[in-house]
Amino acid sequence: MNLYLAFDSNVLHEKAKELSVKLKLDIFKDYSSKYNPEYEDDYFLVCSAERIFLQKGLKKTSKPIYSNFDDWIDNYDDRLLRRTLKGLPNNFSCVDLTAGFGKDAFEIAKSERCLSLVLIEKEKWVFNILKDGLKKVNDYRVIQLLSKIRVYNLDNLEYLNNNKNFDLIYIDPMFQGVYKSKAKKHMQALRDLSSSENDKNLLKNSLEKANHRVVVKRHKNMEYLEGIKPTTSIEGKVVRFDLYNLK
Ligand SMILES: C[S@@+](CC[C@H](N)C(=O)[O-])C[C@H]1O[C@@H](n2cnc3c(N)ncnc32)[C@H](O)[C@@H]1O
Repeated sequence: MNLYLAFDSNVLHEKAKELSVKLKLDIFKDYSSKYNPEYEDDYFLVCSAERIFLQKGLKKTSKPIYSNFDDWIDNYDDRLLRRTLKGLPNNFSCVDLTAGFGKDAFEIAKSERCLSLVLIEKEKWVFNILKDGLKKVNDYRVIQLLSKIRVYNLDNLEYLNNNKNFDLIYIDPMFQGVYKSKAKKHMQALRDLSSSENDKNLLKNSLEKANHRVVVKRHKNMEYLEGIKPTTSIEGKVVRFDLYNLK
């Protein structure tokens, strides 16, 4: 499975070339040509006039994958995740150490009590989609919520060790392959393509840097991260949130 850089109009060739150097990805020149089944399992990071998005295979019906905050404001509601915020102080600060496309972080930003949110993502192509998504919003409610957010393309442990404490630290490590639940297309793309890994002491370090709570998202059948027992857990049909309360 490969990741290529593509562009859907010749005027974007220069922009795509720049990005291909920055992200160390090969340019795929035939993106707009006839459908080629040979690339069915490959991914394409596509520069279009509107946005940067990811696409699996070359079928024109393959749905674009991107950080769609305008859609998520009304059409995504993760009550389980929002329950993990209960009991946090007003104006709490948060860092999401595994930002991905920013979908979980955006749920946290929806909480009125959340004052500021830092998103850390190490994988360059993911970071580019996230950054682009943060710029391409129209809904005024989304613009307001996103004003709480800052994003950094860094290794999370490096960031944690060089920064102040946060009230809440959120970690959503990649689920390992043994859990067969069919992932949504965004998550499947991250599973297929992300080569970044978390330090094996990320939770231990986070517990030292959080003022109030660390929340870890797990598949419901998974062991506790780093074998550390949480204060409590909130379990749904597929995922479980482990809460480590420090106050
Ligand atoms: C399961 S995904 C998170 C998905 C995210 N919660 C969302 O809502 O889109 C885990 C993310 O952590 C990133 N990641 C893995 N190791 C990292 C590291 N050491 N530093 C920063 N990010 C890392 C991966 O590239 C991936 O995007």
